[in-house]
Amino acid sequence: MLQERKFLKGPELRDIDDYDFPGFQKALEMGPEAIVEEISKSGLLGRGGAGFPTGKKWELAYQEEGENKYIICNADEGEPGTFKDRYLLDERTLKVLEGIMIGAYTIDADTGYIYIRGEYSRQIEILEETLQKARKAGILGEDILGSNFSFDIKLVRGAGCYVCGDETSLLNSLEGMRGSSRSKPPYPISKGLYGCPTLVNNVESLACSAEILNQGAEKFASMGTEESSGTKLVSLSGDINFPGVYEVEFGSASLQEIIEDLGGGSQQGQEIKFIIPGGLSTPIVPSDNLQAEYSYEGLQQAGSSVGSGGMMVISTAQELSDILTRIARFYMDESCGTCLPCREGNKQIYRIISEAKYAGLTVDRLNLIQDIGDTMQEAARCGLGRSAQLPIGTILSEYKEELIEGGNLP
Ligand SMILES: Cc1cc2nc3c(=O)[nH]c(=O)nc-3n(C[C@H](O)[C@H](O)[C@H](O)COP(=O)(O)O)c2cc1C
Ligand code: SF4
Repeated sequence: MLQERKFLKGPELRDIDDYDFPGFQKALEMGPEAIVEEISKSGLLGRGGAGFPTGKKWELAYQEEGENKYIICNADEGEPGTFKDRYLLDERTLKVLEGIMIGAYTIDADTGYIYIRGEYSRQIEILEETLQKARKAGILGEDILGSNFSFDIKLVRGAGCYVCGDETSLLNSLEGMRGSSRSKPPYPISKGLYGCPTLVNNVESLACSAEILNQGAEKFASMGTEESSGTKLVSLSGDINFPGVYEVEFGSASLQEIIEDLGGGSQQGQEIKFIIPGGLSTPIVPSDNLQAEYSYEGLQQAGSSVGSGGMMVISTAQELSDILTRIARFYMDESCGTCLPCREGNKQIYRIISEAKYAGLTVDRLNLIQDIGDTMQEAARCGLGRSAQLPIGTILSEYKEELIEGGNLP
């Protein structure tokens, strides 16, 4: 029976008086280049969704020249089905703080930001208190712990906008502008906040980095598979008995085992229809493929991806038409409207899907949705528009017969 592997999870860690920041102390002894090497050796891939190697990102940010450099902890967590960063902010607050400090020291940033989802009121309170106490204890401020490294963190609350989780929209939002994506390149690493080199990392990536320095890259790399090091926090939700945040060692379990052993199986023994394994911007995995291994390569083979780890389980009790309408509505509402393929594409997909509820879904309409989706994937400016079609397109192609032949969409 699958058990949780605990690398990041652990007892509540919020009291500054009881924590001596071992990972950060080690970082001060090692120096920036050795830290970059250690994080690279661990094989950690960014946990915010895109899976970019964290060590490489830190190396690039370290190499950038600039009078001012910034680090940003992306705590926006707006991806539907994802709530693992909330757990870390809530219960492992000091690990997150330590990860930010290590990142800042590595790249030589003197200011950091935590950009937090506006709805996370409790976590905002916890962070405000933690930051205040850290300043009083000399963990933040001038010459931290007797070193000549000075650094402080500002907490900024988002205003409920999914696209602001995208790193470039987040930068605009932080600068007081409308939260819409910037064209890349330039990447934030070279030209980010106020035009300065900026390292943006997800909460889990930063907490992981702190733990990697603390427990060692070798320990992290010894878990998981060759391509998927370590563990991943999975936010499990939907039609299952025990929703929650679970830590899973990559390669140690199939999707089925995660659902059965950790999630307690489907609610009232309902049949599972499909899962969305990595948040709403990942393709679905139908129930006949739940033997797929939980790892980057395993999910890729299953036609999907790890994404943010927001795993939503959908049973046959759900109406496909409702699910499609809700997804299409979400993307239409959340598009920032800057580029035409995403602004108009999501609007048209929502129109066709909601009309299909009454007028029926024909092969022509289905092909039209696929066409619009393909255009968005090719031509949209940011990840929101490029991935909006992934869950909708895979539901439509997987359940085409059922949808057209009058099952859920008459
Ligand atoms: C529409 C959209 C929303 C995103 N939301 C988040 C988010 O809430 N949290 C997050 O860490 N990354 C989010 N990302 C990914 C970020 O742009 C970025 O890749 C990430 O913060 C980098 O951190 P990592 O390398 O540690 O994963 C989002 C991307 C897009 C396109
Ligand atoms: S893809 Fe969508 S969210 Fe991204 S810039 Fe274009 S309109 Fe905005």
